[in-house]
Amino acid sequence: MSAALLDGKALSARMRERLGQEAAALPRQPGLAVILVGDNPASAVYVRNKEKDCAQCGVRCLNHHLPAETTQQELLALVEDMNRREDVDGILVQLPLPTQIDADKVIRAIAPEKDVDGFHPQNVGALCIGQPGFVSCTPAGIIELLKRSGIEIAGKECVIIGRSNIVGKPMALLMLRENATVTITHSKTKDLKDVCKRADILIVAIGKPQMITEEYVKEGAVVIDVGIHRREEGLCGDVDFERVSEHCSYITPVPGGVGPMTIAMLMRNCV
Ligand code: GUN
Repeated sequence: MSAALLDGKALSARMRERLGQEAAALPRQPGLAVILVGDNPASAVYVRNKEKDCAQCGVRCLNHHLPAETTQQELLALVEDMNRREDVDGILVQLPLPTQIDADKVIRAIAPEKDVDGFHPQNVGALCIGQPGFVSCTPAGIIELLKRSGIEIAGKECVIIGRSNIVGKPMALLMLRENATVTITHSKTKDLKDVCKRADILIVAIGKPQMITEEYVKEGAVVIDVGIHRREEGLCGDVDFERVSEHCSYITPVPGGVGPMTIAMLMRNCV
């Protein structure tokens, strides 16, 4: 392997320690309401990791695990309750939600000043026009990881694979804010390999295990892997790590790259 590892695990541990000190100095302990509906096993793992990080950062975690058949009305009533509570500073509704619930409606019901996920249209709009507000945690964590690793962003060609509201779109806006030249690609993009090969910084959020090989990567590029997939041999990302790490300058491992940074940013938003 010739690439250097972007170690999100180590960096997020340092951030958690600092956030713990900040939280301890506050007049009141910060509180995060985490709402999980149903029994999606991946969601259950994410929520458990969030609980662990809350404990380390001195954030009080109020867990609400609702049954899969919860109605939209019941969920909205709980969100309203959390909006009103003064000891709840942040509200997180774990996605995806069961099909009987309209996720957009639930996100819009969260008070924007408690929307630590940064999914509310008011926060998304603020990001879009460069105003202060909560920013989606995965893209914010990627910016933090790049900056703290001394990787220059301004003037670089950045290609993002994936256009989701949670990762691709806010990622593009943040890279633009950092003065990168940004391209968003998606399932209808023509000549994806050629487009990706232009990238100085390639950010992959495609949701397909190990799809990105060295054929998509310019020699010496920085490669950020947002994917996470559970396989018999263990966890892997959207990037074929073994092959790509021979060709790039920096790469995030899976696990231990982007994932821990996402939760660290959630904790920062709460504190
Ligand atoms: N599901 C997958 N990622 C996320 C996230 O960052 N926040 C929430 N609420 N749900 C998710």
